[in-house]
Amino acid sequence: MGKIMVMSDSLANKIAAGEVVERPASVVKELVENAIDAGSKRIEIEVEDGGLTLIRVADDGEGMDAEDLEKAFLRHATSKMRSERDLFRITTLGFRGEALPSIAAVSKVEVATRSRDQLLAHTISLEGNKVIRTSQTPHPFGTEIWVRDLFFNTPARLKYLKSVQTENHHIQDIVNRLALAHPDISIRLINDGKEILKTAGTGDLLTVIHTIYGLEIAKKMIPIQGEHLDFHIDGFIGKPEITRGSRAYISFLVNGRFVRSNLLQRAILDGYHTLLPVNRYPFAVIQLRMDPTLVDVNVHPSKLEVRFSKEEELAKWMKEQVKRRLLYSSLIPESNLTDRRKRQHSEQDRFDLHWKVNESLPFNAFAEPPDSPSINIETSVRLEEKKVEEDVTENYSSQNMEEIDRLNARQVAPLLEPLAQLHGTYILAQNEEGLYIIDQHAAQERINYERFRQLLGSPSKDRQILAIAYTYELTSSEAEIIRNSDSLLREIGIIQEPFGDRSFLVREIPNWFIKGKEEAQIDEIIQLILQGKGRFTLADIRDKSAQLMACKASIKANQHLSREEMRSLLHQLSLVGNPYTCPHGRPILVHFSLYEIEKLFKRVM
Ligand SMILES: Nc1ncnc2c1ncn2[C@@H]1O[C@H](COP(=O)(O)OP(=O)(O)OP(=O)(O)O)[C@@H](O)[C@H]1O
Ligand SMILES: [Mg+2]
Repeated sequence: MGKIMVMSDSLANKIAAGEVVERPASVVKELVENAIDAGSKRIEIEVEDGGLTLIRVADDGEGMDAEDLEKAFLRHATSKMRSERDLFRITTLGFRGEALPSIAAVSKVEVATRSRDQLLAHTISLEGNKVIRTSQTPHPFGTEIWVRDLFFNTPARLKYLKSVQTENHHIQDIVNRLALAHPDISIRLINDGKEILKTAGTGDLLTVIHTIYGLEIAKKMIPIQGEHLDFHIDGFIGKPEITRGSRAYISFLVNGRFVRSNLLQRAILDGYHTLLPVNRYPFAVIQLRMDPTLVDVNVHPSKLEVRFSKEEELAKWMKEQVKRRLLYSSLIPESNLTDRRKRQHSEQDRFDLHWKVNESLPFNAFAEPPDSPSINIETSVRLEEKKVEEDVTENYSSQNMEEIDRLNARQVAPLLEPLAQLHGTYILAQNEEGLYIIDQHAAQERINYERFRQLLGSPSKDRQILAIAYTYELTSSEAEIIRNSDSLLREIGIIQEPFGDRSFLVREIPNWFIKGKEEAQIDEIIQLILQGKGRFTLADIRDKSAQLMACKASIKANQHLSREEMRSLLHQLSLVGNPYTCPHGRPILVHFSLYEIEKLFKRVM
């Protein structure tokens, strides 16, 4: 007799649950997604003990009739797909018909549901997927589902769970993202009796960002919009002055679905480029829309990852959108001096404090909902941005990116008149907008960085022959990489020849190498190529070596500058593409507006 047996539904469900229901937050995600698919406008989520004792989700969606209610708990039962063709054009969040049976396999579930045409709601109770009871009861329209004693029959899974606090953080995180994905739905989260989140459901993304991250963050978000033949983006990216130590504040919402994507994350970070300090990450909420046939959502058991069919193109386009948007916005941090004094326990301070206490917490979970609904941040941010956008569309036609960068750089970089030098380190300067304090080293680093980058891009014409060839030696595997990078080195302007198996003789170098530091610069470029294992492109090398050289060639702190030297530095700064941060992402200038200064001296109230 054969040994193979088809497993029972109950066993199959438990196995599926292993993938779909990883932790309480996965249950919350599946139930809220079902509520969203049911066309709800209001969704309420309540959890107790990190979701282990209770997860309750109530919605005002279309509900189910008695027959569907029982079917919903069968494996592979779904109302969201009718034919195989539908699999390639999924417009709902769910489609596998797996979530409810999987959840029911590892918990005790109760549902009450009532559609518009029913007088009474139908209820069902299940334990480990067995129906225990069905009945009818008065209940508002929509569906309410209680999941109790999660993992009661899978002790191994229970043991693997982290603390209640950790599970709560995961739940808050996923609810935050679902709320960001659906600003048109009012989503409320109650945790052990305390309201943690309540979004307004007005359809405005910035209002949701305000509710989740607080006012100070919302005020520093820049709207971003973009239209491509195949994709459309709409959302907000944070000014580089608001960063966090983790990538958890970047959210991608693809056709209303929160997804994780290293590819898109990379694209965003590349868009910020040198605007971010090392190991700091921006805020970003990007809603991406595309034809459902261009994205495969059926690649991950909990649907958190997707596959894009034009991913390279998408990533490149996203990066450019972000880069361009940042260039067009004025990025000088405001001093905020007067505000700070007034609000000693401002939302921002609470946020920072909380964030310092627990850097791993992905969201500002403890930010209380603002007292007054989103007042006018929206309008003021938008007005400011609208002006910039108008300038942008005027200029942005067929010119290439670099030209536009230069054009716009002139519009955004202020020309400043030096007043004095402070402690041999900072330049005090003014224009009609008020006072600026400039970090002279950071400023010069940025100027040099842009100069070297340009030089590295067009160096081959101006070379000098070294009187004595410079020799260096590598390990044999390194030498192999360098031999294969010969054309790259030539493009940079370094002409060399192999000398034995592991040594090289450098004969010519670009003219602009810093005098007296030629050998060190050759070594740096070779090291960079090795670090990139030969995969760095000319653009990468340009960038990285320009950063290194800029730092070396720049004036340091504690160096006296004459008025003329300051003026020249400020003039050069006004011409660079990005006058706001040094290549490592530290700020170059801080602005004190006249209004703020007047406020300090109580000339205005
Ligand atoms: N809150 C709800 N309101 C109305 N109908 C619901 C609700 N939740 C579930 N359903 C119905 O139950 C069916 C089964 O839900 P389930 O979550 O198991 O599968 P799915 O959403 O179709 O796919 P997936 O497994 O990918 O989530 C759904 O297709 C839907 O018809
Ligand atoms: Mg579902």
